[in-house]
Amino acid sequence: MADFEKFNFSSYEELKRKIDELGVNIKLTHDLSPLLKPVKIGGKTAPNSMAILPMEGCDGNPDGSPSELVHRRYNRFASGGAGLIWYEACAVVPEGKANPLQLHINRDNVGNFATLLKENRKSAMDRCGKDHKTVCILQLTHSGRYSRPVRDPAPKVPQHDPFLDPPVGLKLEDPVVTDEYLDALQERYVEAAVLAQEAGFDGVDIKACHRYLVSELLASHTREGKYGGSLENRARFLLETIEKVRKATGRDFIIATRFNVFDAHPYPYGFGVDKEDCLKPDLTEPMALTDMIVKTGVDLMSNSSGNPYFRYPYFTRPFDTPSAGVDLPSEHPLESVARIFSLSRKIQTAAGKIPVIGNGYSWLRQFLANAGAANLADGSVKLVGMGREAFAYPDAPYDILTKGGMDPSKTCITCSKCTQIMRWGGRTGCVIRDSKTYVPLYNEARRKFETGKK
Ligand SMILES: Cc1cc2nc3c(=O)[nH]c(=O)nc-3n(C[C@H](O)[C@H](O)[C@H](O)COP(=O)(O)O)c2cc1C
Ligand code: SF4
Repeated sequence: MADFEKFNFSSYEELKRKIDELGVNIKLTHDLSPLLKPVKIGGKTAPNSMAILPMEGCDGNPDGSPSELVHRRYNRFASGGAGLIWYEACAVVPEGKANPLQLHINRDNVGNFATLLKENRKSAMDRCGKDHKTVCILQLTHSGRYSRPVRDPAPKVPQHDPFLDPPVGLKLEDPVVTDEYLDALQERYVEAAVLAQEAGFDGVDIKACHRYLVSELLASHTREGKYGGSLENRARFLLETIEKVRKATGRDFIIATRFNVFDAHPYPYGFGVDKEDCLKPDLTEPMALTDMIVKTGVDLMSNSSGNPYFRYPYFTRPFDTPSAGVDLPSEHPLESVARIFSLSRKIQTAAGKIPVIGNGYSWLRQFLANAGAANLADGSVKLVGMGREAFAYPDAPYDILTKGGMDPSKTCITCSKCTQIMRWGGRTGCVIRDSKTYVPLYNEARRKFETGKK
């Protein structure tokens, strides 16, 4: 492992030299044309190969409907020209919200989601032309261990975990969620998916990443009963939910899943990890899971890894500056980026024709386009996903489409300030490139957090 270093490359050649020096598997190309190619996803076609990854703003209305800030965010994403927008984590039950302002789709507010979709589709077409039909996917979630629907943590866990219980105030004698709760929860996913279809989304994602409930179920080696123990049991909730959602929504509705292929969390509490060294992936089970997911007939996948709440957030999102209380990684960010790329590549290979959206690109700044195009060209992924880059520079796809590249003065600088707002319990976005809106919200979140501590 090489020493940690902040991004300091002003040219393609300098970055390439560093990649070669470290010997990491990150390819670059000057030919950005692969990013412009349409991609078939289920029965729809994304107009290009660039996707916005799900990025939660923690800023819905208290009833779970999209607020003005949510409308603003998605209109910016839509007019930015990406071929696919993967809308952020949206709770399927009120007790599964990760924060009081997380989106929560339900019968009473489905009309507000429909208005959002209509507006976003118009924003995309007004800017990119009437043939630009953005594929819109809603991520459905239950926050499990990280549920905090009102003010304080209200964890719902599938298993106890000596590392993760104390931070959320859990004791060994506290109950885990019952099989009956999980059986009923599958139906709530189905209801939310049917509502998302009614609102005009092209599909839904059954979220199974970042150690929220369905992700932690994949790792529930110590749970008893039909949702724990063997891989078949641990995958049961995800696979059955996909099948039930398919039955209720029909063949034309896209079903996706974004799942953790590597938790970077000690065995037996982590998924996809080496039993002796949890910082090393062991992909035996994740590859078997990928095969099982493929068999359910999903239309779209995305891999992720890590637990953004625990020690090693760079497994999910490599950064220059960590949020408060997080150590600097003991590796070079290019090594972190290369690990994420290699996981996507393996999942795409196993997924065959089913498109996989790659991630972990934002640390590369404007060169994400060069790395993304290279990954598309060699078949490592079928779409290139932008996370923090989309907060900072929602027009990045448009600039790639119309100007042939990205403006370095507009890119995300991986400062973790958007994560920090989340940790303080505030409403988040890019503090650096969208400062007029988000510097006041950063200051507000810090003030409230510090006052709350006194
Ligand atoms: C503020 C913030 C909110 C996020 N919200 C979500 C989310 O709702 N769902 C999800 O799957 N990932 C979420 N992520 C993870 C991103 O989708 C993405 O995987 C990660 O940031 C790495 O991609 P990047 O390097 O392009 O930022 C979030 C990340 C950040 C920083
Ligand atoms: S605050 Fe902006 S620049 Fe900093 S990490 Fe978030 S999106 Fe990137």
